[in-house]
Amino acid sequence: MNITVIGSINMDLVTTSPRFPKVGETLLGSGFQQFMGGKGANQAVAAARLGAKVQLIGAVGDDGFGRQLLKGLQQEGVNTDGVAVVPAVSSGLANITVAEGDNHIIVISGANFAVNTESVRQQEARIAEADVVMAQLETPLDAVIEAARLAKQHGKPFILNPAPAQILPKELLDLVDVLTPNAYELAISLGLSEKLSPEELVAQAPCQVVMTLGAKGALFSNADRNQHQQSSFPVTPVDTTGAGDTFNGALARYWDRGLPEAVRLACAAAALSVTRAGAQSGMPDEAALQAFLQSSES
Ligand code: RIB
Repeated sequence: MNITVIGSINMDLVTTSPRFPKVGETLLGSGFQQFMGGKGANQAVAAARLGAKVQLIGAVGDDGFGRQLLKGLQQEGVNTDGVAVVPAVSSGLANITVAEGDNHIIVISGANFAVNTESVRQQEARIAEADVVMAQLETPLDAVIEAARLAKQHGKPFILNPAPAQILPKELLDLVDVLTPNAYELAISLGLSEKLSPEELVAQAPCQVVMTLGAKGALFSNADRNQHQQSSFPVTPVDTTGAGDTFNGALARYWDRGLPEAVRLACAAAALSVTRAGAQSGMPDEAALQAFLQSSES
């Protein structure tokens, strides 16, 4: 499976704490670690670990983090020829607090915001070569729209993970084959009430949706727009950062197996990913995923 990801590349600076601080409070944390991250890079790595041939289109700064991030991606087998190194801008950073089994994330976009329509157009061949094209919203919206337009032009399925959430223009929604939000992200993307149930939100989407439901698995609509639910795989979570990205990478990797099976495998991969600290550390390879599926079935 050939996958082209258009997306962000960040260095994650992760603080662990027994609980989240209150506003104005200073709290003594319990640890600090630095991990490779960024939704685009995470999705690229998730798909590559599972055996896909992955190309990433994005940007890093001409700095130490940028060099580390590129090297890390290359070590994972991700082709980074479509990643620009931008002078005089810092690489993307994510300030992450992990506490109470959850996380808070603040992203400083840096070089990720140097990705634009022109730089995406320059990488058109990578989109034309792909079996599946995938993007998120940590790069500018016009660059995402251009990627979606090129994917459509070349007849490639376009998966959009609408995170971080923002209202999506009709122009983009018309180009999307599958949206992969959580419930909150779908409500924001479509300008709908956050009080609607996941089923009501999915029913109102103008395209197919695969909605992640955290510990409840995923809800998805088939091409016939009927809704189906996939249960989650129970694990003890250590760090949920990157679970959605693992889900998306696996969904793209197993796209050719049909949506129900791709969603099942994506749920299993995402479950495994939360068992280790850091967005990419727990992402399984194919052997680990198969072993986990067998142990879950027995
Ligand atoms: O989805 C998790 C990712 O969000 C982190 O790796 C962080 O970099 C932010 O982009």
